[in-house]
Amino acid sequence: MKLFLDTANVDQVAEIAAWGVLDGVTTNPSLVAKEGKDFKKTVLKMCEYVPSVSAQVTATDADGMKKQAVEMSDWHTHVIVKVPMTVEGLKTLAFCKEKGIRTNCTLVFSVNQAVLAAKAGATIISPFVGRLDDTGENGMALIAQILQAWSHYAFPTEVLVASTRNPDHITQAATLGAHIATIPYEVMKKLPLHPLTDAGIKKFMDDWAKVRK
Ligand code: G3P
Repeated sequence: MKLFLDTANVDQVAEIAAWGVLDGVTTNPSLVAKEGKDFKKTVLKMCEYVPSVSAQVTATDADGMKKQAVEMSDWHTHVIVKVPMTVEGLKTLAFCKEKGIRTNCTLVFSVNQAVLAAKAGATIISPFVGRLDDTGENGMALIAQILQAWSHYAFPTEVLVASTRNPDHITQAATLGAHIATIPYEVMKKLPLHPLTDAGIKKFMDDWAKVRK
């Protein structure tokens, strides 16, 4: 399973990359706007830490998306072009596949969208579990359905669990066998923690202090 950080903050990428567990980063226009930094420079810096950095196109028509996809993929070999799940996006995914440009199809909310994106040649698809949960649907149930569909066919497309909001989303992604989970910094920081680990360390240290040295 690959773990990505969902952020446009380079310091956060550097910190988590040092743990030795980070396989990639996903950004989106909202995250980039939050940081208020130069997008291309940010992406290039992140590419120094991880082999996969998703950078999203902002055009909405296929011609504009294709142009941006060619430009962004030229920035660095680690760039994955993020394309929204629309008809124009499908045309762009097929174009990128033809050109050998790796893609991440974002804003996937149904099995049908997942299948279309895979057939159009997406390298990765990103179903958004948290936003489905927000509407009262079950985001992880969608992941289970997509992986069930994937078990019948030979789609090389990786399923990335996006819009994760808590550690349980990551646990479920792992136990369902999702290929990738992208994780916000605050959630990533919680993953190594367990109260019994802390209690165990305290007991070991207390007992060690009693040993005659
Ligand atoms: O990876 C997609 C993610 O950034 C969306 O997360 O929390 O805005 O739904 P959220």
